Amino acid sequence: MPQGLFITFEGIDGCGKSTQIAMLEEYLGSAGVEFRRVREPGGTSVGEKIRNVLLDKKNDNMDPVCELLLFEAARAQITSEVIKPSMEQGITVISDRFFDSTYAYQGYARKLGTDVVSDLNLTATGGLKPDITFLLDLDPVTALARRGIRGEAEDRMEALGMEFQSAVRAGYLDMASRDDRIRVIDASRPRDEIASEIISVTKESLIARGYKV
Ligand code: TYD
Repeated sequence: MPQGLFITFEGIDGCGKSTQIAMLEEYLGSAGVEFRRVREPGGTSVGEKIRNVLLDKKNDNMDPVCELLLFEAARAQITSEVIKPSMEQGITVISDRFFDSTYAYQGYARKLGTDVVSDLNLTATGGLKPDITFLLDLDPVTALARRGIRGEAEDRMEALGMEFQSAVRAGYLDMASRDDRIRVIDASRPRDEIASEIISVTKESLIARGYKV
């Protein structure tokens, strides 16, 4: 059995990750690739509790370092409890966000610095890295409009506003310019066009792993 892939999706809030993950899941299912979908923060019993603390708007006085450590705490749990065991069984894992979110949100936008994030990411993941990261790049004005159309209530992170989302986007693009693992996808295009790009990159990687897809 070929080894599974570890695929992550990144982008600012409202960039369309959920739709694209669902479309990739549909492809993997039809191609007979065993996969598991997870999300960060959360994805475990411990992690979902941490998620509630992180996203609760009542916690509007949370210290940025407390925030950083909670994201990393949830990551340590999901990595050891779900992601690594799944991969050891040859299962492809799709994660809705992973450590690049912490670089962009806490390292860049919260200005905690990328060195400290890098050290904590390493501790939380034990060195596990995604095989492919899809960065759905979208301007924050369009992303906000999309969230409005869906009628979603804002969580604590989303309530940080346009300037914060712009800093997150700039952080992501900076990282992508320095790491080939991160594929920048223009998320302003029609969703089928985006999905076919994501599926074709994934297919190529699966074939390289020995999958007959
Ligand atoms: P979520 O509702 O999952 O948002 P989305 O659907 O946009 O992924 O909320 C997760 C929020 O937490 C989102 O605003 C991004 C933020 N976040 C960080 O700030 N740092 C992190 O390390 C992670 C994983 C998420």
